[in-house]
Amino acid sequence: MSDQKVILTGDRPTGALHLGHYVGSLKSRVELQHEYKQYIMIADAQALTDNAKTPEKVRENVLEVALDYLACGIDPKLSTIFIQSQLPQLPELTQFYLNLVTWNRLKHNPTVKQEISQKGFGESVPAGFMTYPISQAADITAFKASLVPVGEDQLPMIEQTNEIVRNFNRIYKCRVLWTCKAHIPKVGRLPGIDGHAKMSKSLDNGIYLKDDEDLLRKKVKKMYTDPNHLRVEDPGQVEGNPVFIYLDAFGHDTKKIQELKDHYQRGGLGDMVVKNYLFEVLNEFLEPIRKKRKQLENDKSEVMSILKAGSEFAANTAQKTLDEVKQAMKLNYFG
Ligand code: TRP
Repeated sequence: MSDQKVILTGDRPTGALHLGHYVGSLKSRVELQHEYKQYIMIADAQALTDNAKTPEKVRENVLEVALDYLACGIDPKLSTIFIQSQLPQLPELTQFYLNLVTWNRLKHNPTVKQEISQKGFGESVPAGFMTYPISQAADITAFKASLVPVGEDQLPMIEQTNEIVRNFNRIYKCRVLWTCKAHIPKVGRLPGIDGHAKMSKSLDNGIYLKDDEDLLRKKVKKMYTDPNHLRVEDPGQVEGNPVFIYLDAFGHDTKKIQELKDHYQRGGLGDMVVKNYLFEVLNEFLEPIRKKRKQLENDKSEVMSILKAGSEFAANTAQKTLDEVKQAMKLNYFG
């Protein structure tokens, strides 16, 4: 492998991607692919840790996510997009790492703990779910990634990964595995169209990259704004107002946006005027993405061949690490 710095990102495929995903991670991936060797993993095996009974859903979502990646500018010539389950090297690494982590440590992983209560597993937590932080360490170390873009909630996973790396290198007296750093995107999260702090599928408050013009218009029209801005003449609040947060995130004409904000705060500017402008801004942003996505939807075999080539390339890299790992563990019986 060259000295070029490596990034590994991963997403559990849960369905088509929305503007929150774009602002929170896709945008920075599109930028980072020019500076780093970037691996983008669609974590279908991890998605199965809490969806074992609905594999067809997971499979569908893999394609949805891949379409959105490609439509919004992830370039397969610059980034390697791959499907986690297609790399047998990852569960192999996981198996070896499992012995370096205590059960107690897993039980106290704050993210896993929180997810267990959110998902209502009760006493029936799948063992695969309990151990997913270890499989995540395999994902990251297989590529010797130095930078891992994640949300705050994934920080315990990075910590767990580095613990495994240090233990491995110490126990097997080698420097095969590399520690990594989390890369937390600067941009905060995008609120939902209902004003909820987070855009999410479960809250059904998202604008999706694949939404058509009509749906976009409807969603923008019913967006939550300042609840105290009842009459056009009333002064309105800009801070925390989703309509203005979206304009800041997607608009380019900062002068016009500032004028709208000033007018809104003074009073005399109706929500519909701002919303009409927001619709234009978002539509202009989404139009080329939609077009590219449609084109790819009609050429699924092209998408599948990108994923296949990416998975093969990634498997090759992971195999090199696995060979070194096995050698360090004295498991290289036949040379
Ligand atoms: N846990 C991540 C999610 O919830 C997905 C993921 C799997 C991941 N393996 C990873 C993220 C490795 C970063 C690095 O979407």
